[in-house]
Amino acid sequence: MKLYILTLFPEMFSNIVDRSILKRAQAANLISIETINIRNFANGKHKKVDDKPYGGGPGMVLKVDVVFNALESVLKLSKEKPYVILLAASGKKYDQKMASTLSKKKTLVIIAGHYEGVDARIEEYVDEIISIGDYVLTGGEIPALVLVDSITRLIPGTINPSSPQDESFQKGQLEHPQYTRPEVFMGKPVPKVLLSGNHEEIKIWRDRENLKRTKKYRPDLLKQKKKLR
Ligand SMILES: C[S@@+](CC[C@H](N)C(=O)[O-])C[C@H]1O[C@@H](n2cnc3c(N)ncnc32)[C@H](O)[C@@H]1O
Repeated sequence: MKLYILTLFPEMFSNIVDRSILKRAQAANLISIETINIRNFANGKHKKVDDKPYGGGPGMVLKVDVVFNALESVLKLSKEKPYVILLAASGKKYDQKMASTLSKKKTLVIIAGHYEGVDARIEEYVDEIISIGDYVLTGGEIPALVLVDSITRLIPGTINPSSPQDESFQKGQLEHPQYTRPEVFMGKPVPKVLLSGNHEEIKIWRDRENLKRTKKYRPDLLKQKKKLR
């Protein structure tokens, strides 16, 4: 997959995308992640990327012509039409299912807004508007990293093939609790069944714990599952 991030702050990305699993996925050519500085597409001596909102109000709005030029530069680079995402608090709420769908795309472009957001006319050129949750962040850089990380780990070959299937949300419920050494910590032992070596028993225990956790922390997931049946 080729992934481009249009941002005013490309320097915010390297510390995350050049480490751990994301670094390995890029080294293995499973994904290439490139940041494009929106400011490079601004015109004039002052390279102005934002302006006051029409109709008045606080803050500044990212100029549509500047963001469009940045987007067009990526479209010119790509043989096939990339799938373009705009990040906005007002977008569709992101979840694991969306991550899974996006992980199958060949080329993705993520537009990270800033200030009061991007001039709404950019929406004509995007395929989807995504929000990472019902809260407002300063900019789209952290949401972009959320997408990049969650998508990359679902690209086959990135992590152990069985792990994404067993993880939280993949089957509409949460994952069971996990334990490692020491066997006893501050008097609290690891559940006995996990030490038994009996894989069938362990599976039954894990399935039961998945359900218990989901009921406790995210009963909404179980209701959704019921509706889908
Ligand atoms: C300060 S926010 C703009 C908020 C906007 N005025 C509003 O009320 O919806 C600036 C940028 O941060 C990003 N952003 C903020 N919250 C987000 C969220 N929950 N999900 C995705 N992107 C978000 C978007 O790219 C947005 O353009």
